[in-house]
Amino acid sequence: MKAVKIENMPELPYAVEEALNRLRVNITFLGTDVRKIMVISTTPDEGKSFVAIQLWRQLADTGISSVLLDADMRKSVMADKYKLTLENEGSLKGTSHYLSGSYPLEDAIYHTQFEKGDILPNTDNVVNPSRLLESSRFAQMLDQMAEKYRYVLVDSAPLDLVSDGERIGSLCDGALLVVRAGTTPKGIVKKSVQQLERAGCPLLGIILNRVENYTGGYYNKRYGSRYYGKRYYGYGKRYYGYGKQYYGYGNEYYKKSKS
Ligand SMILES: Nc1ncnc2c1ncn2[C@@H]1O[C@H](COP(=O)(O)OP(=O)(O)OP(=O)(O)O)[C@@H](O)[C@H]1O
Ligand SMILES: [Mg+2]
Repeated sequence: MKAVKIENMPELPYAVEEALNRLRVNITFLGTDVRKIMVISTTPDEGKSFVAIQLWRQLADTGISSVLLDADMRKSVMADKYKLTLENEGSLKGTSHYLSGSYPLEDAIYHTQFEKGDILPNTDNVVNPSRLLESSRFAQMLDQMAEKYRYVLVDSAPLDLVSDGERIGSLCDGALLVVRAGTTPKGIVKKSVQQLERAGCPLLGIILNRVENYTGGYYNKRYGSRYYGKRYYGYGKRYYGYGKQYYGYGNEYYKKSKS
């Protein structure tokens, strides 16, 4: 298997690492049927790729075999941002190459410095990836990955403008919806939830991310609850029946609903 080194994997503050850790634990409680997980958001820049790569790294770090599939073939920056460097000769090929090629999946996936973590980045963006996502090669790829790895984490393009997320979601066992705190209007998040429902993709959880106007230097529960109450409580109520979890990140809070 070919290998890459992820040179630019940022060290996270303790509280972020801890929030991710809780997310990871809750994912592992979802049961053995949940293997293919799409990480999605309504609009760009909410933190899908951040959550996908960090969650994947944590799963791999704890000895759970996981593959990260970069299925954002429109404007993925993952390979550059995280500085994926080939350990062998040749050029770095990715998801769009694999889907438009005819070589086996084993030749497409890269091993990384994380013993249990493999990756298929996207290195060449395409103008219209719908055809590739609609192909049976894509569906087969997901199934093959789910046979080989305990978790397949799929990073995607946002739901608002294109149908990529719906297509990917229809093939996954569930989705984690990343919501940028204080930025994404409630109405369009709601629309995303409906889109996922339409696609037949169970919503596994909502991740409240990028809580940036937090000024304290430490994890602060009171702040988190207040924030949650004001802007996202409606969601909690409305979708409570799904038994989802809510997570805040980073800057920072965590709240888990009863499930
Ligand atoms: N919890 C977090 N803590 C710190 N930085 C974050 C966090 N979440 C996201 N970021 C940063 O915010 C920026 C946007 O995140 P990211 O690229 O993951 O969003 P995205 O939803 O994948 O965007 P796109 O729709 O363009 O693919 C990045 O620079 C990322 O490193
Ligand atoms: Mg992204």
